[in-house]
Amino acid sequence: MSRQTPEQRGSFGGLGFILAAAGSAIGLGNIWKFPYIAYENGGGSFVLVYLAAILIIGSPIMVAEVLIGRRTQQSPVGAFLVLAKDVAGGKAWSVIGWLGILAGFFILSYYAVVAGWTVYYFGKCVSWSINGFTAETAAGLGTEFGAFLGNGTQQVFFQALFMGFTMGVVILGVKGGIERTTKFLMPLLMSILVVLALASFRSPGFGEAIGFLFHLGPIDSAGLLEAVGHSFFTLSLGMGAMITYGSYVSRQDSIPRATATICLLDTLIAIMASLIMFTIIFGVPVAERATTFTSRSATILFTTLPRMFYELPGGVLLSPVFYLLVALAALTSTISLLEVVVAYFIDVRGWTRRFATMVVGGLIFLFGVPSALSLGASPALTGLWGRGFFGTVDYLASNWLLPVGGLGIAIFTGWVLSSSVSQDEIETGHGKFGLKPLWMFLLKFVCPLAIGWIIWTVLNGGDFS
Ligand code: PFF
Repeated sequence: MSRQTPEQRGSFGGLGFILAAAGSAIGLGNIWKFPYIAYENGGGSFVLVYLAAILIIGSPIMVAEVLIGRRTQQSPVGAFLVLAKDVAGGKAWSVIGWLGILAGFFILSYYAVVAGWTVYYFGKCVSWSINGFTAETAAGLGTEFGAFLGNGTQQVFFQALFMGFTMGVVILGVKGGIERTTKFLMPLLMSILVVLALASFRSPGFGEAIGFLFHLGPIDSAGLLEAVGHSFFTLSLGMGAMITYGSYVSRQDSIPRATATICLLDTLIAIMASLIMFTIIFGVPVAERATTFTSRSATILFTTLPRMFYELPGGVLLSPVFYLLVALAALTSTISLLEVVVAYFIDVRGWTRRFATMVVGGLIFLFGVPSALSLGASPALTGLWGRGFFGTVDYLASNWLLPVGGLGIAIFTGWVLSSSVSQDEIETGHGKFGLKPLWMFLLKFVCPLAIGWIIWTVLNGGDFS
């Protein structure tokens, strides 16, 4: 194993970590998935459970991940090898790191496909805004999206393009690539969101959107499960992304404060994105809404939303801005997914960053090609293993790898890691951490029970993603 010095590995400065980690957390999960599942599960009550899950399951695990990363200055596999040297189970704990690498590999392979769609629709909206968005364009949106999905060349092209952007940033390293890009993109993303939120504030559907999002209706156990599961995905937990980013955090930074900021930003953006989406949806006549959320699919963002945008005042300007926002949010997440895998080859295998990024990025792209083709271009891949290639990879990563990884991290930090090590690390850069007993209680009991419940449900044939 050839170890690099912290200078060679790179580190975040100032707000670098908070912005990069918030960038990882804020992504398609917030802008597409959260509004959709909140709608499906009845609005307010779901949002409430989700907030509770972020607070009592997500945030303690995020503290644990960042702490493990900063303590060891290693990406997940190396981190567990270092920490587990003298503890029960020894090197076997590095399996958690391996699962994380696999999860990063899997998630990025299909996430880049969907991220590619946002770039394509950004281009489409620019052209609609210039050339006009007619009734025929609106009527043809569904068919057009279907044709786009069925066009293998286009699918692979936009997937490759997005992987290219992601690799370009990761190759430039922690400071020059990740920190510089997220420092620029995150404020941009938030400004765009604020502009869109202000525009929704003045739109006719806003009141109804607020009412929906904060109305407490009944919620069933599937909704509860979905809320807990999503709190994981949205905070990028369970696969060591925060261990990897944590390994670049300076010893002057406070881990609890950084975690609180990241969770707050992620939640705020999910809520804002929901308000924007619901305002658009509730802003159109009731009869037209009926088709919006009837089927559970990823396509709403691309089939219904464009039409709604162009029906809104100012929509001509807003729609390209919206897709740009989604693409940028996806990029700051794909960067972190790639970094987890690349960092392993740099830290443990001693590869150079450039070589690791090229090889790993290339392999992930290749592995993603069947996903890109499984949405219509190749019927054989569409029907593969019942869920299709895309669906199977997503199922394995989201329903298995992330919860199992999160369970491992909670148990390791709560029960195995010496309390003096975690105490020392958590107080470095923070001072006395009065919430330590509560944090330990959540990690030892609440997190394993909640995640155990997710795994139990998946084992029994349930699906929450
Ligand atoms: N948190 C991202 C989202 O909400 O879109 C997805 C994600 C990124 C999951 C990075 C896991 C990860 F490591």
